[in-house]
Amino acid sequence: MLKVESLVKVYASPDGTVPAVRGVSFTVPQGAFFTLLGPSGCGKTTTLRCVAGLEQPSGGTISIDGTVVADPARGIHVPAYRRDIGMVFQSYAIWPHMDVFGNVAYPLRVARKRPPRAEIRERVMEALRLVGMDAMAARSATKLSGGQQQRVAFARALVRHPKLLLLDEPLSNLDAKLREQMRFELQELVARVAITTLYVTHDQSEALAMSDNVAVMSDGIIVQSGPPRDVYTKPRDAFVAAFLGAANFLKAEVVQRTGAQSALVAIEGGSGRFSVTLPPGIAAGDHIEIVFRPEDAAIHFAPMGGDDLVQGLVERLSFQGGSTECYLRIGGTIVRAILHPAIETTNGAAAWLRIDPARCVVYAPGQGR
Ligand SMILES: Nc1ncnc2c1ncn2[C@@H]1O[C@H](COP(=O)(O)OP(=O)(O)OP(=O)(O)O)[C@@H](O)[C@H]1O
Ligand SMILES: [Mg+2]
Repeated sequence: MLKVESLVKVYASPDGTVPAVRGVSFTVPQGAFFTLLGPSGCGKTTTLRCVAGLEQPSGGTISIDGTVVADPARGIHVPAYRRDIGMVFQSYAIWPHMDVFGNVAYPLRVARKRPPRAEIRERVMEALRLVGMDAMAARSATKLSGGQQQRVAFARALVRHPKLLLLDEPLSNLDAKLREQMRFELQELVARVAITTLYVTHDQSEALAMSDNVAVMSDGIIVQSGPPRDVYTKPRDAFVAAFLGAANFLKAEVVQRTGAQSALVAIEGGSGRFSVTLPPGIAAGDHIEIVFRPEDAAIHFAPMGGDDLVQGLVERLSFQGGSTECYLRIGGTIVRAILHPAIETTNGAAAWLRIDPARCVVYAPGQGR
């Protein structure tokens, strides 16, 4: 188990100090896969390097399996080589002058308690079997494909049976197709060895597909964390909504409260009303923002009456084969929706948008950033 509490890291630089991590807390249960997701510069690598022991935090505590490895307030800083961690970075740093076996054996050969030769051999071959590279043990590291090099890097990270696996964008050097394949391989691998894993990426689809829990970071803090489906369907602000995938934003005014948590709202610049679930503290007359995913926008092409519909015009269509992207103009806003490819329509056609109140998130003024 990994526990990070109130982690702070301030770098000193020639032009002042950089607060790279500003109070980050999370727990990764034994055997779980936890991802830090966020844009460039938000503090993902810094957090990971603090966990690894490659950086000394400015504040907070880090513990691994119940042992405190970093607590600057108490002067505790366990060095990286004593933290029992396996790591893979973006550049896998395979040593070109060694063969595959030598690369994977290296962490054991330089270990303080170096195992006997026979045991090294056994453990290296075990790690290579795990990643399907045992047949290539004698191959020179320079004669490997990108995917193979990366498998070797995983084997090297796992050969010491570490308590914790740290991965910093390990797939980002691979081309798109291989990246997807390695994503599945990596997922299977960490599940098989049941190792606690901290993963860092700025790729939202990777994070959603691989993680038990994902933490979205922005500017040195965790904005929201939870199971991927929860964070995707219930983003707590507009940043999270937009970062995790395509999102539509509609401005609206509360017309009338219809219950403790529900209200009818009118879309700005559109005709028609929606019923939505409201956060607390919003009254009739207030302005809000409704956020929903393209896959949750139902489009109808016949005139319809009643509530929960707003009329718009088809602005642009993009046929994708398996689906059609439809851009609908509603007042001054463009809404993106997904249509079944069999539906035929044309630019300029009238269309009615319906959103399920359960599938949209409403932000109070200012909350949507
Ligand atoms: N050694 C350093 N000295 C000073 N500032 C640093 C140092 N390392 C990182 N920073 C700064 O700290 C902030 C966080 O950097 P970090 O590398 O953790 O971001 P990241 O989320 O990993 O970004 P990326 O997705 O680009 O890898 C950035 O503003 C960066 O410029
Ligand atoms: Mg980084």
